[in-house]
Amino acid sequence: MRTRIQPADLFLRQAVELIRAGGLVAFPTETVYGLGADAGCESAVRSIYKIKGRPANNPLIVHVADVAAAQAYTAKFPRSAAALAETFWPGPLTMVLPRNKRICPAVSAGKNTVAIRCPNHPVALALLRESGCPIAAPSANLSGHTSPTTAQHVYDDLHGLIELILDGGPCTVGLESTVLDLTTEVPVVLRPGAVTPEMLASCLAAADMPDGVQVFSGHGVKTAADELKSPGLLESHYAPRTPALRFYASDASRLHRYMQDCGGKRIGLLGLESFAVPPGMSEAVILPADDQACARALYQALRDLDHRRCDVLLIQCPSDTDGLWPAIADRVRRATKEMPI
Ligand code: TXA
Ligand code: MG
Repeated sequence: MRTRIQPADLFLRQAVELIRAGGLVAFPTETVYGLGADAGCESAVRSIYKIKGRPANNPLIVHVADVAAAQAYTAKFPRSAAALAETFWPGPLTMVLPRNKRICPAVSAGKNTVAIRCPNHPVALALLRESGCPIAAPSANLSGHTSPTTAQHVYDDLHGLIELILDGGPCTVGLESTVLDLTTEVPVVLRPGAVTPEMLASCLAAADMPDGVQVFSGHGVKTAADELKSPGLLESHYAPRTPALRFYASDASRLHRYMQDCGGKRIGLLGLESFAVPPGMSEAVILPADDQACARALYQALRDLDHRRCDVLLIQCPSDTDGLWPAIADRVRRATKEMPI
């Protein structure tokens, strides 16, 4: 199959026709590019799993054009969901809610919940409105690989496997949406993103729900119950192909030792702006100091370094706890292994 990257404004109609006919289209959102299909079409949804090589137990996010559509595809839309949607939609917040039968079972991978979000991107919204159906879309990368933040990234992973990639330019957020489970007594953040726990808690408090939110610390936890909660959040993910190790600002001496022990290996480094690149490092990329700019640049930087034929990548994990840093740290942790002592 020949894969084409096309300007989103000129090829929207063709994308709508493909979705309506049970086909697949890659499209931009504000977070990352998605690989979309009609969420009511079982065979189309199954082909998403097949093309990505995605495990059948990892459910997909359903994208909708507005709150009314979200209500139409959930069995219950609690007051908390209404308040959060009012504040954060369209935007990078996905809510896990009880599903109803209008969403085909493959979307939910056998679970009785559905993850649902209204994206804040004119192309995604136009595609949703004109297709007239909810669109199931995971990130448009091969399973486990770094998420795509440009049309070219999608092409690099999926060329030959899909027909059409709508090009809407680089994604403005650059990290996948916050996933919030609203089926538990206190809402739980399953995946951190641009909508932070503090933002969620303050919205809920303003709507008279003062219990706040919990944050699921999925990393390293591997109980059966956690696996069931959100399979995609536990496995190693978002990873470059080159073996990648993480380090922290406080690890400077460990890092130097590791580099000395590496003798002759070609090392690529991804550091934060405050980091002083050690002498002799041939391949280094430095990320911006601002958290939003850093999030936007992260996946491009991982892909760039991956192309430089290094033996190993050393990636700095931020330690800050405000703004987007925890979400960036989450992705870095899941893209890397710990540096050996
Ligand atoms: O920003 C985003 O969310 C992007 C764009 C395209 O919207 N999509 C995205 O999809 O990142 P994906 O499939 O790469 O990640 C969805 C995450 C997975 O970790 C999955 O396990 C979780 O959401 N998820 C989906 N449905 C769920 C459900 N019913 N219960 C719990 N977790 C769910
Ligand atoms: Mg993904």
